[in-house]
Amino acid sequence: MTTNLLEVSDLAVHFPIKRGLLVDRTVGHVYAVDGVSLSVARGETYGLVGESGCGKSTLGRAVLRLVDPTSGSVVFDGTDIAGLRGEELRRMRRRFQMVFQDPMSSLDPRQSVESLLLEGMKAHGLSKGPAEDSARLRELVDAVGLPARALRRYPHEFSGGQRQRIGIARALCVEPDLIVADEPVSALDVSVQAQVLNLLAGLQRDLGLTYLVIAHDLAVVRHVSDRVGVMYLGGLVEEAASQDLYDDPLHPYTRALLSAVPVPDPDLEDRRERILLSGDLPSPAAPPAGCRFHTRCPWAQPERCADERPQLRTIEGAPAGHRVACHHAERIRSGELTPHRVEPEAVGAGIPGGAPAELPKSVDELL
Ligand SMILES: Nc1ncnc2c1ncn2[C@@H]1O[C@H](COP(=O)(O)OP(=O)(O)OP(=O)(O)O)[C@@H](O)[C@H]1O
Ligand code: SF4
Ligand SMILES: [Mg+2]
Repeated sequence: MTTNLLEVSDLAVHFPIKRGLLVDRTVGHVYAVDGVSLSVARGETYGLVGESGCGKSTLGRAVLRLVDPTSGSVVFDGTDIAGLRGEELRRMRRRFQMVFQDPMSSLDPRQSVESLLLEGMKAHGLSKGPAEDSARLRELVDAVGLPARALRRYPHEFSGGQRQRIGIARALCVEPDLIVADEPVSALDVSVQAQVLNLLAGLQRDLGLTYLVIAHDLAVVRHVSDRVGVMYLGGLVEEAASQDLYDDPLHPYTRALLSAVPVPDPDLEDRRERILLSGDLPSPAAPPAGCRFHTRCPWAQPERCADERPQLRTIEGAPAGHRVACHHAERIRSGELTPHRVEPEAVGAGIPGGAPAELPKSVDELL
């Protein structure tokens, strides 16, 4: 038994771009995920952050084999899932489940909660007769903080937060080992976000679950994750224990993201450094050569940045688990290299769209 429940190696997912009236021709590819390696230990929460379109969901879907990788491997509990077919794949699927951003789109509105949960159990041969099933269903709704009467109701009768609890119960009903939670709280009010995140943390403790949590909100990822991976245009640019990443971000992109997160202390907020990024996120169909961030990087250098893709590596002085994909990380960290002036365009704290976010009360304060 390996300690890692999940090992992703050099994973790529390229979507063909098709054109043509009569015959579909492939005219290019969207390099949604392009060479990602990461591992997640049993019982660990790995958080994945990055701008909209950087490939987070595609990576999550490839891990669950909801999309087929172009190359690379996903090894789940010692088995390469790319090689699984039919019954073997179905049995393995029970062990990894997804929690979606919008539970309404993943829950059939015509089914009661009871029938939704039973369906999941039956699909994987976990139904054990009416009496045992009924006890199990009550246990499940109780575990996600809903009363037993919720079982007789329908998804539309619940609030957003309650629906997400049902989505979580739906994932739990098949007793999975790994849950990929894709933006599990981003559709919820901030006060409800904290409750759902606390619920996920409690369930992890009680059930020994392993999580891959995808979110664009750095505060969310920080609070739930043991380790964090930062994605940019299909690749991981930095990976570290959560606290190390926030205390000592090494990659210019991570530094820019963190510098856009407001801090609650007004004095600190006035004094803190903001790193502004110029230019839009390039298209994943035509990612820049070399370091993919070089077109927007305030520290980009004439040497190597535009023609050599940096690999994730450790640097002297940073903890062994802290890896960064930047040729010049040491000199940036020491302050020897300073950022160039750039046209001001902030990467917002609510990253999608890159707009400077008008921040509601942060989930930070609530956890
Ligand atoms: N089935 C598909 N076919 C073609 N392109 C796709 C497909 N799924 C995703 N893409 C493209 O792949 C890129 C990565 O998308 P993905 O949904 O993984 O990003 P994301 O990081 O989850 O973004 P968001 O934060 O907006 O959810 C995007 O350019 C997207 O348009
Ligand atoms: S390799 Fe160059 S362009 Fe890329 S992040 Fe480092 S300094 Fe910036
Ligand atoms: Mg997504």
